[in-house]
Parts: sequence; structure tokens; C-alpha cells
Amino acid sequence: MKVVVGKVSDFENGDRKIVDVNGKSVGVFRIDDQFYAIRNRCPHQFGPLCLGSLAPRAVSDGPGTVLMDPGPPLLACPWHGWEYDIATGQSFMGPGRGNRSARRYDVSVLPGSELVGPAEGQARSDGRVPGPYLAETVPVSVEQDYVVVDG
Ligand code: FES
Repeated sequence: MKVVVGKVSDFENGDRKIVDVNGKSVGVFRIDDQFYAIRNRCPHQFGPLCLGSLAPRAVSDGPGTVLMDPGPPLLACPWHGWEYDIATGQSFMGPGRGNRSARRYDVSVLPGSELVGPAEGQARSDGRVPGPYLAETVPVSVEQDYVVVDG
């Protein structure tokens, strides 16, 4: 069922509104003139996901290079910091479990011929490895001058 959540002019670029869509709390965001809607319920422990902060994704094509991806930002849950792709709801980063100390890794030097790419299904083409959670996203559209969430 489609729910009108406001006029386009009610949303300044960067605004978010938390609205009720058929009994579900949903956050509607306007970012770079795109609209996104995501359920205000973190899949981790049900925190108020849409009250969290937004940040661009940092990407790198190698050591010493860090760029900000111009695509949809990540939304960090205010409770424990898990981050979600605001467009797909996919989690990517979050706090470790149990022991808070950093995990150590063995380091070795190998010839390139011994190196292979990530195992199939492990990493996406952009190098990001999906996390265990998937936040529920909701289709959102602009019909004439109204923002409509399809919940
Ligand atoms: S409840 Fe959202 S990260 Fe834990």
C-alpha cells in the first residue's frame, strides 16, 4: 500500500523524516536529491537505526589511496555502530564480538603467482564483503510533487 509521506518541498537535501508506514516506523531520507526509505529497526538488536549518522563510503584501489565514494552513504546504527547501505539495507561493518582487543593476523610475503582473488561469493566487485545483517528497505518514489513510500 502506498503512503504519501509529504511533499518533495518538505524535504531539504539531507533531511530525514521518521514516519509511520502501515504500522512500521520508517526513515525517509533525501540525499543528493535521491530519496531512500529504510525501516527504523536495526536487524542486530532492534535499535532505532534511522536516528544514526550518515557517512560516505571510503574506498581504495590500493595502499595509500582513499577516496570517498559518491554513491549512497552508509547509515550507522546509534546503538552499536553497525553500518548499512542506505539503498539496499546490507550491513558491512560493525563492532567485534566478545573480546574488544584487536585481532592479530600472521603476515607473510608471497609471490603474485601464488595469490588468488577472494573466494567466490566472498566479496563483491567493489571489494566489500557483505555483513550478516540486512535492514529492510522500502520502495520510495516521487509522484508529481509528493514523496510516496510503498510499504
Ligand atoms: S542494535 Fe543496531 S547495531 Fe546493535
